[in-house]
Amino acid sequence: MAGPIKIAPSILSADFANLGAECRAIEAEGADWVHVDVMDGHFVPNLTIGPGVCKALRPHIKTVMDVHLMIAPADAYLQAFAEAGADVITVHAEAGPHLHRSLQAIRSLGVKAGVALNPATPANAIEYVLDLIDLVCVMTVNPGFGGQSFIHSQVAKVKTLREMIGDRDVHIEIDGGVTPDTAPQVVAAGADVLVAGSAVFNGGSVDTPEVYGHNMRAIRAAVSR
Ligand code: DX5
Ligand code: ZN
Repeated sequence: MAGPIKIAPSILSADFANLGAECRAIEAEGADWVHVDVMDGHFVPNLTIGPGVCKALRPHIKTVMDVHLMIAPADAYLQAFAEAGADVITVHAEAGPHLHRSLQAIRSLGVKAGVALNPATPANAIEYVLDLIDLVCVMTVNPGFGGQSFIHSQVAKVKTLREMIGDRDVHIEIDGGVTPDTAPQVVAAGADVLVAGSAVFNGGSVDTPEVYGHNMRAIRAAVSR
């Protein structure tokens, strides 16, 4: 069952010189979760932040620190992200041969476990780990950068995943190209957590946080019609 829709701004689109204030600003303006994109320049062609920055941000986040690991291998770093205060750690199904083990490891650290699926990865990649996950993240862009266009073929995957999940308590998170135009399509298909980077941060700053609020309300309004 999908719960109320949550908006998880991706701080990849925030001002990196001001990340603590950016987290406080989006929460004050109504963000449900804070999505942190971790990239290694190997699994994806970009480098971002690591556990040290997550730990520094933790006191600035009152809601949920949602850590999306776009790194391979991931297992050696799970403990560091758990100790940095992650509430959710998501690993990619494509990031290594032992997804089941990675998910067991995340849960054993007392953290909620997520699996992300690249656009070319089928829904059935998670068939045998459904009881080990709290979240599945459907990538609606190729991971690595903010501001890319939504890949429409993924909407059918969301629908398939919602059927596979059945009555399990598993979030379906959408990551990439979420806007007031695309959000209703994935919510109708069964998604309940919407990551949005550029659609939340564009046009605003910590000095004009009301823009973030306006942008998030536009997404919420679009999905509640
Ligand atoms: C992409 C990241 C996303 C990204 C989304 O690799 O995982 O979280 O920041 O950015 P937008 O919403 O701009 O597509
Ligand atoms: Zn992400």
